[in-house]
Amino acid sequence: MALLSKDIESLDGLFLHTLRDIYYAEKQIEKALPKMADKASDDGLRQAFRSHLEETHEHVARLDQVFEHIGEKASGVTCPAIDGIIEEAEEISDEIADSQTLDAALAAAAQAVEHYEMSRYGSLVAWARQLGHSESAKILEATLDEEKEADAKLNKVALDRLNAAA
Ligand SMILES: [Fe+2]
Ligand SMILES: [Fe+2]
Repeated sequence: MALLSKDIESLDGLFLHTLRDIYYAEKQIEKALPKMADKASDDGLRQAFRSHLEETHEHVARLDQVFEHIGEKASGVTCPAIDGIIEEAEEISDEIADSQTLDAALAAAAQAVEHYEMSRYGSLVAWARQLGHSESAKILEATLDEEKEADAKLNKVALDRLNAAA
């Protein structure tokens, strides 16, 4: 395990490790979003999941570009945090019978995912700037903005319909 053997010696190493962490996370999210869309009853929520899936494909492509910019091979490293968030979402949705309550749970789980991504991309943008990777910072910031928009859209769907209905 990289962290235990103290392989990360500098901000460069931390930046690369975190890029690999979010690369893994985005790929897990690509697998989770279609399942969440299938479980959703509300059209607006299903649409929000599907359109963010399209954006998520783009997030992976942008990370490929960042790896290329810094001269590293694109690869992921297991991210227990995103695995936990997705696992918890699956567990709770298996326990909910009522479709409107399920939609509220799915929206909340998706917002937890977006907040995780926002925190990671926020750090990555700051570190990219600090390390002088200005092109990479711009690419990562484009994704950060989309994560924020996705979170705001989910929040609106939840407030407008789901929570009122549940
Ligand atoms: Fe993303
Ligand atoms: Fe996202």
